[in-house]
Amino acid sequence: MILADRHILVTGAARGLGAEIASKLAAEGAKLILADLLVEEGKATAQRLGAQFLPVDLADPASISGLAGKASALCEGKLDGLVNCGAIATGIGGITYDEIDIDVWDKVMQVNVRGTWLMIRACAEMLKASGSGRVVNLASDTALWGAPRLMAYTASKGAVMSMTRSYARELGPDRVGVTAVAPGILTTQSTEYVPEARHQLYQENSAVPGPQGPEEITDVIAFLLTKGALTLTGQVLPVNNGFVFK
Ligand SMILES: NC(=O)c1ccc[n+]([C@@H]2O[C@H](COP(=O)([O-])OP(=O)(O)OC[C@H]3O[C@@H](n4cnc5c(N)ncnc54)[C@H](O)[C@@H]3O)[C@@H](O)[C@H]2O)c1
Repeated sequence: MILADRHILVTGAARGLGAEIASKLAAEGAKLILADLLVEEGKATAQRLGAQFLPVDLADPASISGLAGKASALCEGKLDGLVNCGAIATGIGGITYDEIDIDVWDKVMQVNVRGTWLMIRACAEMLKASGSGRVVNLASDTALWGAPRLMAYTASKGAVMSMTRSYARELGPDRVGVTAVAPGILTTQSTEYVPEARHQLYQENSAVPGPQGPEEITDVIAFLLTKGALTLTGQVLPVNNGFVFK
């Protein structure tokens, strides 16, 4: 088990990819703290995996500070891993750049960009105290290939990639590694609303053709949370079966 006894906090873990990641990390021996806005689903996922659950609203700075404080009590001030998976990831595509509501744009940035910045900031001292702290940010390959009709989301995930690089340099002296993964389109509940043509585009143009399940990218994420992954700090890894090459 590559994550035995490592304390890892996963946001957005109630459902979808976050729950799949949590399941893999639990199987690798991690001591998990799951956090999400969805309290009932989050508690159910945590119970299934023998994990702790804490509620958080990533749009609210005070809620993020509160989460970090409670997590610190659970891991005695030493956090080995943080997975920033919580995001507004569904229901915001399919419209052009001039159809996006200003309030929706702001909310996506608040949660996906500011939320990621504040989560790492709130956990930084705990990650440093670990001696081998690792952060994995969920980006998206849509920001690499310039997916159309998804502007607020792609802009937010591009910002997550930039933050990954800058955070890697700011936290590197304390041996905290910060990486990002950029999945393609996965067979999750969140992508059910995406038109079939976009699913087909991925399935037919990837080096490994066909649909990609969320469980197919969790091995890579688990590895990025190990002590041995520090040399990858600052990197953005497309985990999309070869749909885009970086
Ligand atoms: N599914 C994909 O194809 C895909 C592809 C690329 C990247 N991603 C990324 O993976 C992550 C998970 O996506 P998913 O597909 O499972 O989507 P999802 O919508 O099922 O999951 C997102 C999770 O984040 C939580 N969340 C949303 N707003 C929140 C807030 N304000 N505070 C706390 N939690 C909040 C949701 O409750 C949910 O559990 C996201 O960062 C997404 O951008 C997913």
